Amino acid sequence: MKVIVVGNGGREHALAWKLLRSPQVEQVVCIPGNGGTASMARCQNVALAVDDFEGISQYALENGISLVVVGPEVPLAKGITDYLQDKGLMVFGPSKAGAQIEASKAWAKALMQEAGIPTAKASVFTEAAAAKSYVKAQGAPIVVKADGLAAGKGVTVASTVAEADAAIDAIFQGQFGSAGEFVVIEECLIGQEVSVLALTDGVTIRPLLPAQDHKRVGEGDTGENTGGMGAYAPAPIATPEIMARVQTEVLERAIATLKSKGIDYRGILYAGLMISPDGDLKVLEFNCRFGDPETQVILPMLATPLEELILACVQQRLGELPPIAWHEGAAATVVAASGGYPGNYEKGKVITGINQAEAAEVTVFHAGTKLNQQQEIVTDGGRVLNVTAIGENFDQALAKAYKGLQSIQFEGMYYRRDIGYRVKSL
Ligand code: AMP
Ligand code: GLY
Repeated sequence: MKVIVVGNGGREHALAWKLLRSPQVEQVVCIPGNGGTASMARCQNVALAVDDFEGISQYALENGISLVVVGPEVPLAKGITDYLQDKGLMVFGPSKAGAQIEASKAWAKALMQEAGIPTAKASVFTEAAAAKSYVKAQGAPIVVKADGLAAGKGVTVASTVAEADAAIDAIFQGQFGSAGEFVVIEECLIGQEVSVLALTDGVTIRPLLPAQDHKRVGEGDTGENTGGMGAYAPAPIATPEIMARVQTEVLERAIATLKSKGIDYRGILYAGLMISPDGDLKVLEFNCRFGDPETQVILPMLATPLEELILACVQQRLGELPPIAWHEGAAATVVAASGGYPGNYEKGKVITGINQAEAAEVTVFHAGTKLNQQQEIVTDGGRVLNVTAIGENFDQALAKAYKGLQSIQFEGMYYRRDIGYRVKSL
């Protein structure tokens, strides 16, 4: 099989890497890919935009592509699956209608309420004055969310009413583009977050190992929110009891309610959950795709060939497969970011030491990297590398990942030193 992976992040490098370990997959084409996917054997980059559906379909049809795996939410929300399926291609990822579960927080909230999925109490507003008077009545802390896709920047957890008001103004002043037509205001939940990504073919739902991300830029979970600074799996906070509840109260209800709306949802359904200190769970958000960096720790633990699972989802025969098999132990990834991220940062810094790190039992998934004209790997984004390791336990996996990081250098490199602090034994 020849497979296209759409996207250019660490998640897509991990998807390509894992697909190439499947006996059936002979070649992966990343569109547009990054410096890591450009350097991997049997993998190549093709410089098309992720929303150039015509270009992607033409490439796929001319080059004997059997399957297209879509990484990011933007092309899914724009209907890449519908477009490519119309051209006769097999695509992993939900339709445009299904992707609304991520692309509109108001739509997702209404779906959760209709389905009886546990979630924060919320109201939706279309103008600032009404939103602000609701905030005033509720008091802080309170959470303000832009409705549409905002690259992870549309949510403000406001600790004061003034902060919430400022967030409401920013949204209605169009700071998030079309993400600013509605605002969702919801109760602030406390607890620990966990990501449960599930494979589904629209009928059967098979959760992957639960993972925990570290969203804040600073150690001790301080500072600004980012796309994710590190992750580990399996997250012990998602106990078997919690996972059973996620299956019946979250995933099954979501898929059934999507079906009742005529949406045959196939792909990844990602539930971002808050587990309260007394062990209760609520859904913070749904995503219609693999998480980043969660995928970078889930896939190294996966023993079943990924392409078998993906094809079974696309062909609606996931229920015929044996249970998903996992490796023993634990996985951890630490993100090396450009200095200044998630604010402004410079690009084009030469990265050294990746080969030495990989010789020391880590896998380095590239995120914001590219090859320059001298064929050197240089930085090309905020999150640059995901230094990933598996071990018999978390201590081992984390120690290996941090040891790998010691070899890697680029100007301004920043990483959190406390990834996995909740699961470390010391
Ligand atoms: P979302 O994109 O909706 O997941 O929000 C991004 C991040 O904002 C989440 O991962 C949480 O850290 C935080 N967040 C979202 N909703 C809430 C909430 N109701 N209470 C507390 N934190 C929240
Ligand atoms: N790691 C968070 C996300 O993928 O949305």
